[in-house]
Amino acid sequence: MTRPQRPSLASTDDLTQAADIDINLALAQLIEQRYRSPIIRPSTVVDVAALIDESFPRGEESLEHLVDQITNATEQYPRRNTHPGFFGWIAPSGLPSDPLAHAMVSVLNENVGTYQASPVGTTIEKTVIRWLADLMHFPQQSEGVLLSGGSMANMSGIASACTKRFGPGYRQQGLAAFSRESQPVIICSQAAHFSIRRAAAMLGIGTDNIIAIDTDAEFRMRVDHLDEALRQQQNVICVVASAGTTLTGAIDPLEQIAELCAKHEIWLHVDAAYGGGGLMSAELRPRYRGIERANSVVMDLHKWFFQSLDGSLLLYRDASSARQLFFESSDYLRANADSSPEEYMFFHITPELSRRFRALPFYISMRSYGIERLGRNALHNVQCAEYLADLIRRESELELIAAPQLSILCFRYIAQELDDASIDQINSAIRDQVQLEGDYLMSPTQVRGRPALRVCIVNHATRVEHIDGLLASVLRIGRALSQ
Ligand SMILES: Cc1ncc(COP(=O)(O)O)c(C=O)c1O
Repeated sequence: MTRPQRPSLASTDDLTQAADIDINLALAQLIEQRYRSPIIRPSTVVDVAALIDESFPRGEESLEHLVDQITNATEQYPRRNTHPGFFGWIAPSGLPSDPLAHAMVSVLNENVGTYQASPVGTTIEKTVIRWLADLMHFPQQSEGVLLSGGSMANMSGIASACTKRFGPGYRQQGLAAFSRESQPVIICSQAAHFSIRRAAAMLGIGTDNIIAIDTDAEFRMRVDHLDEALRQQQNVICVVASAGTTLTGAIDPLEQIAELCAKHEIWLHVDAAYGGGGLMSAELRPRYRGIERANSVVMDLHKWFFQSLDGSLLLYRDASSARQLFFESSDYLRANADSSPEEYMFFHITPELSRRFRALPFYISMRSYGIERLGRNALHNVQCAEYLADLIRRESELELIAAPQLSILCFRYIAQELDDASIDQINSAIRDQVQLEGDYLMSPTQVRGRPALRVCIVNHATRVEHIDGLLASVLRIGRALSQ
């Protein structure tokens, strides 16, 4: 038989060689920039676009040139969550071991969807999940998975709660079986993160079917109102409690909520996306009492565990509902019937199939720094927040609106002779001016409908001198503006 002639193929370059660049040298300037002021510099999209080459890429540029381009652009228009004076939102500071660990993830490029696809990745992910489960005293049979963030993790946890509540019918028929009068509901507090509303929207539950329970003076879910809601509602999918709300860092009364959920046999989902990192500290751990009774818990590694983006743990007390919901099998991806550990499939308990080796940076940082040591940094953050609260209480020109329960607090500049509208204006202006000066950053926020200054401390490098510096700036600017 004659061999068919080879078709003429497109010419190609050999891309198998390691990139021709010293990675250490390439990163040195970026690493050095991390703690430098300003945290942010105002820009328009036109300013930034001028520094980025938007022309169609022809592949003529050297890696050195591209490194210089990005280093220069981020130097001119930075947004440094890494800076110890960054007190905005809940942004990851990153750890010094992260650049190395993330480079390793990229070089290995394993897809941690199944044990077979990534034996080391699967083993390491299961290991770090066990450490976190142990911190919370979750049972040995509990299982978890690392997702891209708290939003995805909250949605997946709630989806599993739906399966537990409504059985396999939920997977097959969705919520079509329910009449208007018996629509399933999610119960959370008014202070719950908006990812819960988005989960309700995406899962077809509908945001109208969220019962938002009032909060008390400390912004925590009112348990008496939760009790009432649980008595009235027939079709509760789950109760979502927060262990560290986004705005004030409030921890809902987890023990009492767990007690009520147990009484009514309702799935308890705890959103500790922000607060979870505090569990690393033995001193802070008692504040989370009751979390060990949850059915599912979410903790973002890229918030208060100090990790660079991204990674969020979704932990299940019993993953069988998740498995019922997410299980799929295909001719190209089928587990052997023996269900041995070597057949483990992470994708059976999560909506994601292809997944990067998210656990590696966490594994490396935990092994090299230790949970206790990082826990001391989290405790230090809380102590800085408490120190700031003390300073605010002593200052007649300042009002503490939300005292820290963890490492977030809200306050306001007040001047006796000014009306509320002027005070609101001044506080917004203080925030803007602090940001413009470049050494500190607070994100815009409102508490009970009025502008407030919110400080969120989740950076391992923040020290009391940064707190003193922030407060001095707020007072200086507030006094100048209220003249
Ligand atoms: C309490 C809480 N839950 C969930 C989220 C969403 O997390 P992510 O941004 O990782 O999706 C946030 C984000 O700030 C949060 O504060």
